Amino acid sequence: MPNIDKSESYKLGSYTVNRLGYGAMQLAGPGVFGPPKDRGAALTILREAVSNEVNHIDTSDFYGPHITNQLIREALHPFPDDLAIVTKVGARRGEDGSWIAAFSPTELTQAVHDNLRNLGLDVLDVVNLRCMFDVHQPAEGSIEAQLSALAELQQQGLVRHIGLSNVTRAQIEAARSICEIVCVQNNYNLAHRHDDALIDELAHKGIAYVPFFPLGGFSPLQSSTLSNVACRLGVTPMQVALSWLLHRSPNILLIPGTSSVTHLRENLAAARLALSPESLSELDGIAS
Ligand SMILES: NC(=O)c1ccc[n+]([C@@H]2O[C@H](COP(=O)([O-])OP(=O)(O)OC[C@H]3O[C@@H](n4cnc5c(N)ncnc54)[C@H](OP(=O)(O)O)[C@@H]3O)[C@@H](O)[C@H]2O)c1
Repeated sequence: MPNIDKSESYKLGSYTVNRLGYGAMQLAGPGVFGPPKDRGAALTILREAVSNEVNHIDTSDFYGPHITNQLIREALHPFPDDLAIVTKVGARRGEDGSWIAAFSPTELTQAVHDNLRNLGLDVLDVVNLRCMFDVHQPAEGSIEAQLSALAELQQQGLVRHIGLSNVTRAQIEAARSICEIVCVQNNYNLAHRHDDALIDELAHKGIAYVPFFPLGGFSPLQSSTLSNVACRLGVTPMQVALSWLLHRSPNILLIPGTSSVTHLRENLAAARLALSPESLSELDGIAS
């Protein structure tokens, strides 16, 4: 498998990470709930990612719950010094697998301790506050109390860096008056481009933007334009979708999720794919 082009990196707090990382959400069972069908395969994917220079893994203790973090610990602990494990707090799972807000300062503090225990860490590299005013999309609401609780845990030395997820521009600005924000993780891809202006603003400020659902998430991207460009280049549509994101802005860090080693390899190889200005403008047309 080709290694990731090392020149393609960006800062994530005190870390410098390769722009192609890995999202671990797909490692849990169906619906991100319960254990994986094949635990050995899940461990292999994590080891394969890191041995191919992935040094940015996205997770949460509410994936499984607990299971994804436990897999990461089993596969990779003790963690390489340059590996940034980014987790998120703000939700919990119901007994039926539902996603429930767990957004009070007490619940956030508990979640940080759960992540520390399940990952086997004394300090979490990056913790994203996952906003839950609307589960599916950013919605306005004060995050002052929540962020102050995380900033307090940061001062105690339990959290190295803080980021935000599922947030509006106003929430990012309010947050930056409380503590340093190193990354923003919102839903964004070739076909879902609500954050276009925000990405450019964050790039200007040197803040990483980490799109979740880079491949469309639970409804993978489908477009004849995407397929045509991929066919012309002799690559897969998912590789083109990832490459388009890498071309979109230098502050975009990718965390495509997969439970397949074949897909992992395919996704990592997208770091080497160059798209011509003509292909990029064709792909830009998908969202309009
Ligand atoms: N902050 C948040 O609220 C939030 C929300 C959702 C996700 N996330 C994070 O973002 C990461 C990425 O999101 P995601 O995993 O939900 O969605 P995604 O990366 O957009 O897509 C994952 C889906 O695409 C498939 N896939 C991956 N690579 C493929 C390939 N090369 N060819 C064909 N299919 C491929 C996967 O199936 P296979 O398993 O079969 O490959 C899976 O069904 C997650 O892992 C998680 O860490 C964060």
